[in-house]
Amino acid sequence: MRKRILSGMRPTGKLHLGHYVGALENWVTLQDEYQNFHLVADWHVLTTDYEHTNRIRKLTEEMVADWLAAGIDPEKSPIFAQSEVKEHAELFLIFSMLVTKARLERNPAVKEQARALGLEEKISYGHLGYPVLQAADILLYQAHLVPVGEDQLPHIELCREIARRFNRVYGEVFRLPQGKLTRFPRLPGPDGKRMSKSIGNVILISDKPEKVLEVVKSAITDPKKIHKNDPGNPDICNVYHWHQKFNPAETPEIVADCRNGVLGCVDCKKRCADKINEFLAPIRHRREKIIADMDAVRDILKDGAEKAHIEAAQTMEAVRNAMGIG
Ligand code: TRP
Repeated sequence: MRKRILSGMRPTGKLHLGHYVGALENWVTLQDEYQNFHLVADWHVLTTDYEHTNRIRKLTEEMVADWLAAGIDPEKSPIFAQSEVKEHAELFLIFSMLVTKARLERNPAVKEQARALGLEEKISYGHLGYPVLQAADILLYQAHLVPVGEDQLPHIELCREIARRFNRVYGEVFRLPQGKLTRFPRLPGPDGKRMSKSIGNVILISDKPEKVLEVVKSAITDPKKIHKNDPGNPDICNVYHWHQKFNPAETPEIVADCRNGVLGCVDCKKRCADKINEFLAPIRHRREKIIADMDAVRDILKDGAEKAHIEAAQTMEAVRNAMGIG
């Protein structure tokens, strides 16, 4: 039997290259070797924005369109929304009894998010507990592996603790999952910060070639390289990181030419944008077909929820039996 993966993302609508490099690409590669479940964490959105629920469906569908464009095959790997499989809520409730408030308050990822949003003391009960919901997402499917960014590792640790506790108290039901880090470090935005739609420093998977060129042109390079023939330092250049990812074959030559003052930033950026566009071309092509028929995307989500539900129901049956209630 193939090992199982549970991958999840919040529905943030259209995805950017950072999502692709940090997660999606990995998911696509893994789907042949593993049995994957792809979860849209729509209930998770409520932790940071419970007021604007009217947007969540649309954001889910837009994001799933990008997943499909990137090459996720729903026949191999079901795609579904968390809120369509109610077992997530049931298991979350049970798990929430197995973890202390102090333990949740120690979680660095939650702390940082609360600080960034200026919440801290005002954080909601559900927000503080979102890693517990995430544990339910993972354990319901008995996943062996969970592909995550480094920032999510504390959640995997908590998930393992909860699984261990459950197994010790009620009997062996859950497999202990492992986090699987992506190989490629996070892709910086043109400003060197982490790509984020809220800052606007992104290249979207769906961006047109002209837009890609515009963003690449805006990228901050070595500030000491002012004239074309000034020698540059690629280590502090954001375009260099993009070349590494999207233009690996020419990168050594580009690095040498930059250092020697032979290659100017204007040309370098043009070459970089061309490579990104080359890379995005087949994805864009698939995406256009997909968004022309959003009913098909909705059907994929429905079908995925049915498949996910079969697994989730089985796990909950084992949970209820182990506990002797429900
Ligand atoms: N918390 C994750 C994020 O913010 C999304 C997520 C929810 C997730 N459930 C998951 C990721 C299960 C992996 C596994 O990005």
